[in-house]
Amino acid sequence: MIDAFTFKLGMRRLAAGVCIVTTLDEEIPHGLVATSVNSVCAEPRPSLLVCVNRSASAHDRILNASSFCVNVLSDGDDDLADRFAAADRARRFESDRWTSLLTGAPALEASLASFDCRLTQTAVIHSHTIMIGEVLDIRLWRDDIAPLVYINGHFDRLGVGG
Ligand SMILES: Cc1cc2nc3c(=O)[nH]c(=O)nc-3n(C[C@H](O)[C@H](O)[C@H](O)COP(=O)(O)O)c2cc1C
Repeated sequence: MIDAFTFKLGMRRLAAGVCIVTTLDEEIPHGLVATSVNSVCAEPRPSLLVCVNRSASAHDRILNASSFCVNVLSDGDDDLADRFAAADRARRFESDRWTSLLTGAPALEASLASFDCRLTQTAVIHSHTIMIGEVLDIRLWRDDIAPLVYINGHFDRLGVGG
C-alpha cells in the first residue's frame, strides 16, 4: 500500500497549469485555485474536468449552481492564486477584473482563457468530486501565452517560449 506522503512527493513532480474555478450560486460568487483541471474531449461536446475537494467551500456551491467557470492563470498571477487558496474568502473577488459569460460564474478578464461550463457529470472519489463540465462559452482574453505553473510545491513559470 502506497502512503499518501509518498504519493504527494511523486505528484509534486507533475507540473500543472494553475486555474481559478468559480461559480455563482444564489447571486454570490465562490471560487478556488485548482491544478486538477484537464481536457476530457473536444467532440461532439467540448468537455473538461476538475477535481474539487468535498471540504472546499465552493464544492457544494458548484453542485448547487450546476455550472462553473475555469480561468487559466498567467505567470503574473501568483498573488491572485494565493488569494483563492487562503482562508480569507472575502478578498477573493475584490478586484474589478471579473465579468460573466453564459452561466454567470465569474470569468477573469486578464486570464489566458476562460471556459464557462455546465456541470454534466460527477463522480465522488473519497475526498474529492470529479466534476465534468460541458464548455458552453470560451474567451481567449490575451495572446501572450505565459502560464502560471505549479511544480514541487511552488508557483513557477516556463523557462522558454510559453
Ligand atoms: C496550487 C494549488 C492547487 C490546488 N488545486 C486544487 C484542486 O485541484 N482541487 C481542490 O479541491 N483544491 C485545490 N487546492 C486547494 C484549494 O484551492 C483550497 O483548498 C480552496 O481555496 C478551498 O478553500 P476554502 O474552503 O477556504 O474555499 C489547490 C491549492 C493550491 C495552492
